[in-house]
This record gives sequence, structure tokens and C-alpha cells, in this order.
Amino acid sequence: MEEMSNIIRLIAVSMAMVMSMCQVPSNLHPLILVPGSGGNQLEARLTKIYEPPGLICKLLSHRSSHWFRLWFDPTVLVGPLTKCFADRMTLHYDQEKDDYSNTPGVETRVPHFGSTQSLLYLNPELKHITGYMAPLVKSLELQGYRDGENLYGAPYDFRYGLAPEGHPSFVGTEYLQNLKKLIEKASASNGGKPVIILSHSLGGLFALQLFNRNSATWRQKYIKHFMALSAPWGGTVQEMLTFASGYSLGVPLVDPLLVRDEQRSSESNLWLLPSPKLFGPTTPLVITENTNYSALDIPQFLNDIGFSQGVQPYKTRILPLTGQLFAPGVPVTCMIGTGVKTPETLFYGRDGFDKPPDIIYGDGDGTVNLLSLLALEKEWSGKPNQPLKVIKIPQVSHTSILKDDVALKQIVTEFSDINSNALISAS
Ligand SMILES: *[C@@H]1O[C@H](CO)[C@@H](O)[C@H](O)[C@H]1NC(C)=O
Repeated sequence: MEEMSNIIRLIAVSMAMVMSMCQVPSNLHPLILVPGSGGNQLEARLTKIYEPPGLICKLLSHRSSHWFRLWFDPTVLVGPLTKCFADRMTLHYDQEKDDYSNTPGVETRVPHFGSTQSLLYLNPELKHITGYMAPLVKSLELQGYRDGENLYGAPYDFRYGLAPEGHPSFVGTEYLQNLKKLIEKASASNGGKPVIILSHSLGGLFALQLFNRNSATWRQKYIKHFMALSAPWGGTVQEMLTFASGYSLGVPLVDPLLVRDEQRSSESNLWLLPSPKLFGPTTPLVITENTNYSALDIPQFLNDIGFSQGVQPYKTRILPLTGQLFAPGVPVTCMIGTGVKTPETLFYGRDGFDKPPDIIYGDGDGTVNLLSLLALEKEWSGKPNQPLKVIKIPQVSHTSILKDDVALKQIVTEFSDINSNALISAS
């Protein structure tokens, strides 16, 4: 008799163990990762009409119809080759079409849409220097997430942005459609559970646009939670530095002036210029001997730095977007790094915009100003139907939030809360 009850107890215990093993993953809401700018691989191929900029680039051009890695490509680090890379990465705004496109003769594609594969490392042959979401994905796997089963990646051509209604935006719009389909597919293959979206940086801006371009009914059905890491809701002063003087990608070997034109050509970079609504019409962000530029003066600023081609697309396409931070009604968590010195005011001297400026720093994550990281709190205050939680992690920078132990622990904790809330409300 006693033996019998022992056996029963044993069976009960092992059943509980088996159930808890199965239960964790099967109760997880599907999760989709939306990377930031530069946060996934891109591939390109050159057609016959492509004209390389100069002899070196011509000699080293990849042969026609052969797909190669465009991003991240280590030749960007090699002085004479930086120019070849930059030309293939450059976008062109066509006034007649009112849209952006690649350099003629350069075709591009985003590998592995739907999978996390192209977000883990920006170049799988250079894992040690190009790691991106690998540590984050590892922590998620420990929670029971599996690529292609309940975990997905939504890489995109991050050079392109979006445009407000009435303006074509072929690449960005197509991405939002693909992301929407991926969300619906992820939900369908996980028992109809709504999806968690986890974005980093620029990815947060795309995700919010997707939500706001779909109906409230769609959002309720498909979106469980939106967690945005390091999102630059109102742009950054750092971006004005990039437009004026180029940004070396944090690599000392790269001459910022060699990549400046390419960086200026990127539509999403325009999107990340400081928003007048947030940074105010009078606060000077860039100071030169003769002029002060606030966020409201960005058209003049673009003109004065020698990028007058950017003024019209900025005014007609970008500016109307920057104010669009509508509350989607789905629960949102912003997780941000703070206490890292972040460019707040740029001083340019007599040498003009080609020389790096003197910088006054303020609070933020090293890239994004605190004001911008906290913009949703301000924008959505007093909106009772918009659950918003802001989690600040001190001394964590814009991208180290994806690998810092404290940050990863916090992300995982949030996810288990989101997933277990689901259990309570379901039972
Ligand atoms: C620019 O701003 C600084 C600091 O706010 C101020 O002292 C200066 O007078 C301004 N210069 C011009 C040209 O408006």
C-alpha cells in the first residue's frame, strides 16, 4: 500500500517536472526582435550599369550578379576602400518620384527575414568585433525561446525611413507590411497568442509607426506588449554631429569625412535629427561664430553644412513624422540607459564643419539624449488608456544595453512578468 502511494507520488512528481518543462516554453508569447540602425546584415550585388567611383573601386568590384555582404563589411575600415563602400551604401532622393533609392546599379537585399540569424552578428566571419543581439538572444533562449518557433527577427534596410501619408516610401512601407505579416504568422503558429515586440533604437520608431498605421482592433488582437530599448523618440544631437562632420562609426581608423556623404544620404539618419517639438524652438544645439541652430533651424543647418539636397525631403517627409508619437493603446515598456555623457551642444569654430566640434555633454545613453529617451513619458502623460513603464539602467550605454548583465537580467524579468500575467488573465 505504502509502496503504491510512493509510486503514485513518484509519477506525480515526474509528471509535474515534465509539465513544468513543457509548460514554460508553450506559455511564452511569441517574440519578435526589431533591430536598430546598422543592426543587421545587408547584402548587395552590382549590375552592369554600376559605375564604381574611381579605379581602385573598379578593380576591386565584385563581379556582376554575385551577392556579397554590404553590411558589415570590414573594408569600410581601410582608407582607400572606404570610398568604395560608401558609394555602394549611398541612397539617392529623387525629387520627381519623391522617394529614395539605391545608387544606380546597386541591388540590395536583407538576408534571413523572420529569423534572428542576421541580428546576432553583423558579420558572422568577424564575430568577436561585430556581435549585436547575440547575448540578448542567448538569455532569451535560456527562457525557452527558440528561433523560428516562438522567436523571430525582423531585419530591414535601415538606411531607408518612412514617410507621412501622401508620400511614397517604397522600401520602408514594404518592410512594415512584411513585419505585419510576420506578427500575424508568429501569432498563428503559437496558438493565436498575441506577440511581444522587442526593439532596439531606431527599430522602436518603425514599430510604433506600424502600430499606428493599423487599427486598434488589429493591435488588440496581435500585440501583447511593446518593449523598446534605447529608443530615440525625439532624435539626438549626435545626429547633427554626424550630418555636419561625419561619424567614424566609433572606429578610430575611419576618416569621418569619407563616410559623411553616405551618412547624409540615409533617410533614417534624417529621421533621427532632433525633433523641434521635443528639443524646443529656441534651445541652441549647434553654435557657430555667427549662428545658433535650434532644432527648428535644421533646414538652415542642413543648407549651411553643405547638404542643401536634404532640405526638401527633411521638410516634407521627415518633419511631419517626427511629431507622430501617438499612443497605440498596447502596453509599452521603455528601457533606457542613463548617466552616460551624451552630446548636448556642439560648438564649431572658424574651421567650419569639417573639423570635429567642441562638445558640451549632458545626460543620456551616450548617443541619445535623456530628453529623447523619455519623450513618451512626456507625450503620453495623462493618457489613462496607455500603459507605459520606464525602466532606467544607470551607466549603461546605447548598445551595451544589449549585453550588459544587469540590463539582460532586467529584460528577462520583464518578459517573465509579461508571460506570467498572461497565465493569470487566461485562467
Ligand atoms: C547663441 O547662444 C548663446 C548661448 O545660448 C548665446 O550666448 C549667444 O548670444 C547666441 N548667439 C547668437 C548669434 O544668437
